[in-house]
Amino acid sequence: MYRIRIYGDPILRKKAKKLEVFDENLNDILEEMIETMYLGDGVGLAAPQVGLSLRIFVMDWGEGPLKVVNPEILEFSEEKVVDEEGCLSLPEIFEDVERSKWVKVRFQDEKGNIHERIFEDYPARIFQHEYDHLEGILFIDRISAARRARLKSKLLELMRKSRQTSKR
Ligand code: CO
Repeated sequence: MYRIRIYGDPILRKKAKKLEVFDENLNDILEEMIETMYLGDGVGLAAPQVGLSLRIFVMDWGEGPLKVVNPEILEFSEEKVVDEEGCLSLPEIFEDVERSKWVKVRFQDEKGNIHERIFEDYPARIFQHEYDHLEGILFIDRISAARRARLKSKLLELMRKSRQTSKR
């Protein structure tokens, strides 16, 4: 199981690197990320959240785990929906976030095979949230400044905790 990086860790703000090599090591990383996601009771987990600046994430919206490598979002629906989001890197923070209702995506699996799919509603929301992590974007960047201001003390507390755990 990986240690989950908490808000304040600089890796969460870095743009992650594309995968070029599809070997057993990549699959081991994805499997360990799935384990870490389930132990943390999450529905998605991106590599930067476990300290790896790579363009991979895992997600499970109730139909089993999906391994996503080098994702691209080809199309965002104009129709938007608002729903509550949380994040394993922002424990105890939940906010309404506006996302496209559906997305057309392309990604590779652990073997390098290319997949194109359309996700709608819940999996579309998770895909967009996890994709953001690879760009160094967090869901709290997508809420209003007023709402973010109200989270200020909670965020400072997380940054303090993040600094403590990284010293260990
Ligand atoms: Co997240």
